[in-house]
Amino acid sequence: MAAQIGQGSVPGTSCCAEQLFSAGGTRARFEAMSDPARGGAPFVRRADGLYCEDVALQDLAQRFGTPLYVYSRRAILDSYQQYVRALAGRAAMVCYAVKANPNLGVLSVLARAGSGFDIVSGGELARVVAAGGAPSRIVFSGVGKTEGEIEAALQAGILCFNVESEFELRDLSRIAARVGRRAPVSLRVNPHIDPGTHPYIATGLKSSKFGVAHDQVLELYRRACADPHLQVIGIDCHIGSQISQSAPFEQAAERLLDLVDALERENVTVDHIDLGGGLGIVYRDEVPASIEQWVGALTRRVDARGHGDKTLLFEPGRSIVGSAGALLTRVIGLKTGAGPNFAIVDAAMNDLIRPALYDAWIDVQPVSLRREPAQTFDIVGPICESGDWLARDRPLSLRADDLLALLSTGAYGMSMASTYNSRCRAAEVIVDGNRAHCVRRRESIEDLMAGESVLP
Ligand code: LLP
Repeated sequence: MAAQIGQGSVPGTSCCAEQLFSAGGTRARFEAMSDPARGGAPFVRRADGLYCEDVALQDLAQRFGTPLYVYSRRAILDSYQQYVRALAGRAAMVCYAVKANPNLGVLSVLARAGSGFDIVSGGELARVVAAGGAPSRIVFSGVGKTEGEIEAALQAGILCFNVESEFELRDLSRIAARVGRRAPVSLRVNPHIDPGTHPYIATGLKSSKFGVAHDQVLELYRRACADPHLQVIGIDCHIGSQISQSAPFEQAAERLLDLVDALERENVTVDHIDLGGGLGIVYRDEVPASIEQWVGALTRRVDARGHGDKTLLFEPGRSIVGSAGALLTRVIGLKTGAGPNFAIVDAAMNDLIRPALYDAWIDVQPVSLRREPAQTFDIVGPICESGDWLARDRPLSLRADDLLALLSTGAYGMSMASTYNSRCRAAEVIVDGNRAHCVRRRESIEDLMAGESVLP
């Protein structure tokens, strides 16, 4: 028997409901996290500790060491399938945003399920191909595609270039002419919508570097249509990330649909409308729209405007892998008695930069619960910066060597990791039922210095 994290009850141990609460936060958050529509609660508490699917995190830490990223295959597929179900019966493609988690194991799970991919670099293209993804299901976003990246994507035969500027359109045409291929094109529209998220991850405002300004889009389409090396096939937008409400997405969709109508008045028809990614997940007390609600709200807009015949694309990243992953870390030691209490752990800002960079709140759960009363701790890493913190002011009952799970870190965790302070990057594991597959071994000291040399 397993209790989902957040149900606030652990069979056979009546003390644990309160401990679970004092270990982390509010009832509202727990209830939100236990919503089965949000990825099937992959991390569950049993009497003997936290599990990912049917594997004890304690065992994973022993087998693979810490810090360790742990992902649930079932949760990744559950979220992907929610998109598929919400889009059933219409021409559509889910293009997983590789940047959220580019591990080959993760990509292969999604490729086998039939997912498409949204890439932003030649490195991501190579990863998708290596993981068995079909190039014909890849869209290529990004404001600064290089000549080499464009050429590689043309040679691979990707579905579409999401073009973000006038200069990119020119470059694409020139390179396509040289390579002898016609480049499939969509223009990424900057709809000038405030998505109400952290300013670093809002991308659809006039002040942001992304996309083509709404009032320049038609002129650029005219040019693309007149260019023999380009083939206009779509239109797209992406307004930001970790967005809870549907309203900003709906406003952006309406602006996109205005442009589709305007293009049709000029006899230009697009095959697909790409509405981007950006749907938020629950970290603390957010109440994001469900995948079904989000997709439903947008498809209704598209249908109401008479464009239900167009293929719809989505580019979700976080909402597919975010809740499916946790970062497992071990307490190196406790520093108490002078100012805040610090739990110094073996993961750091190089492994998970979201708290330092965005002031992000991460749910910290002890793998095994202790009965002693909780104290308030700041959870910090060993890096030589005061910005190296993972969580603050958490009521926890802790001792050295305890294991902690940092939940909902499957997206933008490992993908933003670095080797700062010459720390070897974490290993990554995908759990599938009662089995665990290592999909990235821990970096070694040799890996750290590979490619470098001392002066002769
Ligand atoms: N499509 C494009 C063009 C994007 O730029 C992004 C994310 C996505 C799709 C996927 O968005 P998602 O569904 O994952 O929200 N590092 C930040 C998030 C940056 C997102 C950048 N673009 C964080 O940790 O919050």
